[in-house]
Amino acid sequence: MPIPSMPGVSRLAWRTGLLAAVDAARAQGVNSVVLFPKTPEALKTRTGEEAFNPDGLVQRAIRLLKAAHPDLEVYTDVALDPYNSDGHDGIVRDDGVILNDETVEFLCRQAVSQAEAGADCVSPSDMMDGRVGAIRGALDAAGFPHVGIMSYTAKYASAFYGPFRDALASAPRAGGGGRVIPPTKATYQQDPANWRESLREAAADEAEGADVLMVKPGLPYLDVIRLLRDSTALPIAAYHVSGEYAMLKAAAERGWLDERAAVLESLLCLKRAGADIILTYYATQAATWLNEDGFGVR
Ligand code: PBG
Repeated sequence: MPIPSMPGVSRLAWRTGLLAAVDAARAQGVNSVVLFPKTPEALKTRTGEEAFNPDGLVQRAIRLLKAAHPDLEVYTDVALDPYNSDGHDGIVRDDGVILNDETVEFLCRQAVSQAEAGADCVSPSDMMDGRVGAIRGALDAAGFPHVGIMSYTAKYASAFYGPFRDALASAPRAGGGGRVIPPTKATYQQDPANWRESLREAAADEAEGADVLMVKPGLPYLDVIRLLRDSTALPIAAYHVSGEYAMLKAAAERGWLDERAAVLESLLCLKRAGADIILTYYATQAATWLNEDGFGVR
């Protein structure tokens, strides 16, 4: 199903749509994927238990992909927002406080259930404190010491996630019955004005056992990518997010930008700033262009 605010990107039907998209990616040399689920409203709850349903959409999708492509690198998202009826990454108390430690317990169960389904790397995007160490411990205890953790380390409370929240119907929503639901994620995601907090988050995630540190969004935060690249030996990932995709697409559709040149320049700049890994909705398209240009991604 097409996503109106992300022209060219669709929500994929389990099985046919997903397998076709992965086949197309692999044909161009893209061999890593991240899964994000659109959860039916009826399965959303205040605590998001669907996140660790062994037969949930993500768990089934991992098993399907690993059966079809054993050497595909499957990354997952660890956070409650696709499953949470309040639209937050953590559990919301009636007075609007996000319950950090209770959420972390649920995130551990979610990560273990994804590992059981066959995930190669789990990616906590929730920004709760202490979750990387807790997830590392839970994975090790459950027999998954080889499953990696790509932590959303410097994840900013950004307006550039709008199209993604449209796609998942996952934006924070007003509480009924006198409950207070914070309209933004600013109590757990970072302040866009603050770069020093990224250093503290990076030090904590590294000490807790993260394998990859991520900066998100990408282009507006190139300084943070460079900062983390220069302050850790861990690989740095940059997430070229939905709003960045939408801006490029909108301008290209109006003929205001040369899409191919602007996209490849954007990705190049993420790399120049220090990203070892780039997550982008343009991945298959960009690999196709690079292959046409003789760069041999395949
Ligand atoms: C939430 C999550 C978000 C994205 C990835 N995981 C949105 C948010 O924090 O509200 C955004 C990705 C994008 O915009 O492309 N756990």
